[in-house]
Amino acid sequence: MRLVLLGAPGVGKGTQAKLINKKFNIPHISTGDILRNEVQEQSELGKKVKKILDSGELVPDKTILEIVNKRLVRPDCKNGFILDGFPRTIPQAKGLQSQLNNEGHLSLKVIEIFIPEDEIILRLTSRRICANCGKVYNIIFNPPPEDGCCTKCGGNIILRDDDREDTIKNRLSVYRKQTEPLISFYQKKDIFFQVNGQQSVEMVFSDIEKILLNM
Ligand code: AP5
Repeated sequence: MRLVLLGAPGVGKGTQAKLINKKFNIPHISTGDILRNEVQEQSELGKKVKKILDSGELVPDKTILEIVNKRLVRPDCKNGFILDGFPRTIPQAKGLQSQLNNEGHLSLKVIEIFIPEDEIILRLTSRRICANCGKVYNIIFNPPPEDGCCTKCGGNIILRDDDREDTIKNRLSVYRKQTEPLISFYQKKDIFFQVNGQQSVEMVFSDIEKILLNM
């Protein structure tokens, strides 16, 4: 099962990817998590991309393709993977396709999760994450403990640097310009499905599961 979860910031890609990972036991590859990890570790790459992440712009295609191509050849991807937040541009989608062709994997499915923009802004301004392990909370839909410590690792629960309203609006504008064209790119290839993300987490997962079980 080779799956791309597509959708604007905050539609629930990460939340659903974790559930798919648990149910189908295939790795969840989030380019956002990989980049945030580099920033946290203050690596050379992390120092280079921090400003880009904080502004809501996209990291250059070449950098992203290098990261993903390296990740996809690891042994745990042999039976499939879930890509969350990648591809985000047409050159990234073409890069992924040629990587899959090289590896002899042709079957890719793309699921777009969609919700209205006012709901996106609500979900992202109320999202909180653990600064240490990245576990995701939401002060409205999935509240963190009152002591502000992560239930998984005890780390501090914080607002993500790019979850401020002006940055969210820029991320949405970047999505419309650079990522939305991927919808018609994949629709043409007949591997594309859409799921309504404005339902409970369980209902969204149930819709995704039906698509995956019919693959
Ligand atoms: P990335 O981390 O990929 O961010 P994103 O795409 O903006 O997605 P989010 O993580 O914000 O949202 P999500 O859809 O995963 O939603 P979640 O499940 O958390 O990228 C960050 C940055 O890295 C980019 O801006 C860019 O700079 C860079 N980058 C990454 N990939 C790149 C690439 N390929 N190319 C170039 N640059 C790249 O849910 C959101 C909230 O809603 C949570 O609080 C959750 O609890 C809640 N929630 C989820 N589902 C529901 C539901 N059904 N009902 C109610 N609440 C829900």
